[in-house]
Amino acid sequence: MAKNKIVVAYSGGLDTSVMVKWLKDNYDAEIITFTGNLGQTKELTGLKEKALKSGASKVYIKDLQKEFLEEYVFPALKTGAMYEEAYPMATSIGRPLLAKALVEVARKENANMVAHGCTGKGNDQVRFEVSVGALAPDLINLAPLRMWQFKSREEEIDYAKAHNIPVAATKDSPYSIDENLWGTSIECGVLEDPMVEPPADSYQSLTPIEQAPDEPEIISIEFSEGLPVCINGNEMDSISLVKALNTAGAKHGVGRIDMIENRLVGIKSREIYEAPAATILHFAHKELERITLDKSVMHYKSLVAHEYANLIYNGLWFSPLREALQAFVDKTQERVTGLVKVKLYKGNVRVSGRTSAYSLYDPALATYTAEDQFDHAASEGFIKIYGLPLKTYNRVTQKITNEKKKKAVA
Ligand code: ARG
Repeated sequence: MAKNKIVVAYSGGLDTSVMVKWLKDNYDAEIITFTGNLGQTKELTGLKEKALKSGASKVYIKDLQKEFLEEYVFPALKTGAMYEEAYPMATSIGRPLLAKALVEVARKENANMVAHGCTGKGNDQVRFEVSVGALAPDLINLAPLRMWQFKSREEEIDYAKAHNIPVAATKDSPYSIDENLWGTSIECGVLEDPMVEPPADSYQSLTPIEQAPDEPEIISIEFSEGLPVCINGNEMDSISLVKALNTAGAKHGVGRIDMIENRLVGIKSREIYEAPAATILHFAHKELERITLDKSVMHYKSLVAHEYANLIYNGLWFSPLREALQAFVDKTQERVTGLVKVKLYKGNVRVSGRTSAYSLYDPALATYTAEDQFDHAASEGFIKIYGLPLKTYNRVTQKITNEKKKKAVA
């Protein structure tokens, strides 16, 4: 009997395929693979056969799409969490769920170790291992890419061929790509030069703006307590809704993000993201909050969103702080119900209308017409008291300055 039992987070790519065999030999282990379906389009076909051929004794493939959107993505959407104000974190939010599902398989199979295929200089290794540690403190985390002898893809391919591990016949993308329902992350290759405009082959599902339709598309999105529920009047389940917005946004070139980001491990990296649905939903949700949230809640919430995004990005989804902030956010969302109309056009998403039963926008107070109810006269006293501290401060300061000047002249 094998000494160890390892559940491998398996993508079917070269790294994780080589890993199955490498772990089996180096740890005298029985290998079970686990693959979570988060809506990636390319990688799931033929996966089981590939894992078995690579040396796995058992293969788990689990559809996590609904759980991903409803338990991970939407809470972050309600929060308005964007890392460094730009990245909707499709990859980052998926990791804790994959770690949780991996742990479940490890428990079911009585495994003593888990392994992932993340590199030693990214954020994902941190997210995986911290999440596994939080959920199953006794499980041993293995990161073969930080440990093994291979220095290049070619060396891995040689090893794979020598051990009859299936290597993809299709030509590999020059980029490292991670894809799920909430977005695609694209890095490496020529993209490593921040002055290089991403070439045409870096586009995955998005239409470049130059080729986007000349006619704009208007979409109405309804939210209920911060959650998107309807598109153009049709009630939709979470998966169909996000897929529909991905399709519409991609067609109009909406949701392409080119950013230099600060990784947790201390380096800046250049990443391209394609996240049409995430971009549209974050935008529309924010517009609805602008009319439904009280000013002080709205302002405070942006601080929470900033902190919450850092927690997700930095691998602390399963932390008491993330949960506590979630409770705050969920309370704010009780009023975020209503409809937002957005216009998609050549890479842009603009608001064309918003309405809500909870709207705090009061036309009688906002209008400049004869219907105006605002008490203009009350502003005089308000400004007097509001500006009083500044008047006092400067009266004193100017008096002292003048006295100093007088002394200098004398
Ligand atoms: N930089 C992003 C993050 O840390 C994405 C990482 C994965 N990217 C990739 N192209 N494989 O969340």
